[in-house]
Amino acid sequence: MSILVTGGAGYIGSVTVERLLGKGAQVVVLDDLYRGHREALNENVPFYEGKVGDRSLVARIVREHKIEACVHFAALTYVGESVKEPERYFENNVEQGIALFGALVQAGVKKIVFSSTCATYGDPEEIPIRETEKQWPKNPYGWSKLMLEQVLEAYDVGHGLKFVALRYFNASGATEKLGELHEPESHLVPSVLMAASGERKELAVFGDDYPTPDGTAVRDYVHVADLADAHILALDYLKKGGKSEFINLGTGTGYSVLEVIETARRVTGKPIPYKKEPRRAGDAITLVADARKAKEVLGWTATQSDIASILKSQWDWRRRNENPFKA
Ligand SMILES: NC(=O)c1ccc[n+]([C@@H]2O[C@H](COP(=O)([O-])OP(=O)(O)OC[C@H]3O[C@@H](n4cnc5c(N)ncnc54)[C@H](O)[C@@H]3O)[C@@H](O)[C@H]2O)c1
Repeated sequence: MSILVTGGAGYIGSVTVERLLGKGAQVVVLDDLYRGHREALNENVPFYEGKVGDRSLVARIVREHKIEACVHFAALTYVGESVKEPERYFENNVEQGIALFGALVQAGVKKIVFSSTCATYGDPEEIPIRETEKQWPKNPYGWSKLMLEQVLEAYDVGHGLKFVALRYFNASGATEKLGELHEPESHLVPSVLMAASGERKELAVFGDDYPTPDGTAVRDYVHVADLADAHILALDYLKKGGKSEFINLGTGTGYSVLEVIETARRVTGKPIPYKKEPRRAGDAITLVADARKAKEVLGWTATQSDIASILKSQWDWRRRNENPFKA
C-alpha cells in the first residue's frame, strides 16, 4: 500500500516525501512541475508528471500502486498572484482539487491529508488563532483553500471520507538536502536571505503602518521539517480510524518582518538592505497560531522552529548548494 503525494516536487511536499521515505513508507508523487523540481525527489520514487485534475491519471495511479491515502499539497500558493489572477487559483486549486477528491473517492481512497493555510482566517478577531476562529479570507488563495476544506467536510458526510486539513502558518527553513526555492520567490525568509547574499539588491517590506509594535506584518514561522512530521502523524492518525479534523500548525510565537530581518542580520553577519513599500493587497496583519490542538490530536509540537534556526538552516542550505536542484 502506498501514499500518493500530490505536489511532492514542491517545497513542503519534497521534504515530506524525504521524511516519509525515511520512515520506510511507499510513496508515489504526482506533480505538474509548474513550480516543483524533479531533482528534489529521490529518483527511485515513482513519479507522474501531470495535473491533479486529470481524473483518469489519478485513477490509474491508485490502481497501479494500491494507494491507501493521499497527501494533497499541489496548489498555486502566492497571495499577491491570487489577487491579480484569481481565476488561476480557482481553476488550479479548487476545480482540480475537486476533481482529485472525486477521483480518489471513486477509486475507494478515503483518507486525505490536505494542505490548508492560516490565510483562511483573514484578519482574525483573536490572537493566537484557534481553529474555531471565523474564516473569512482576504485573498483568492485563501478562499481556494477554504472552499476545498468545505468540499472535504461534505465528502465526509456524503462518502465517509476522513481527512485532516492542516492549516499551516509560514513554512520556512531547510533540511540537509532540501530547502525553499520558488520561482518567482515571494516568501519572506528566502527573500531576506537573497538580500543578504546579494542575489537581490534589496528586500521589499510591504507595509510599515500596520497596527503591530513596529508597524510591519507579524507571522508565525514553522520549520518545514516540523511541518513534514505533522503530515506523517496525521496519516498515522487517519490509519488508526481518527475522525476528520482541522488543525493549525504553528508555534504560537510571531515575528514581525523587521524582527526577521534583524535576526537574519545576526545569523548571516551580512547587511540586509531593504526598502519600504505600500501594503500589499490581500496581506493579513498578524497571523499567529494557537497550536494546542495539534498537540492534543496528533501529539505534534514544533521542535525545530525557532526563527534563528530556521534562517540558519535555509542560509546554510543555499551556501552549500549554489544551484540546488540543478547540480
Ligand atoms: N509555503 C507556505 O508557507 C505555505 C503555508 C500554508 C499552506 N501552504 C500550502 O502547502 C502546499 C505546498 O506549498 P509549497 O510552499 O511547498 O508550494 P510549492 O509551489 O513549492 O509546491 C506546490 C507543488 O504543486 C505543484 N502543482 C501545483 N498545481 C498543480 C496541479 N494542478 N497538478 C499537479 N501539480 C501541481 C507545483 O508544481 C509544485 O511542485 C500548498 O498547497 C500551499 O498552499 C504553504
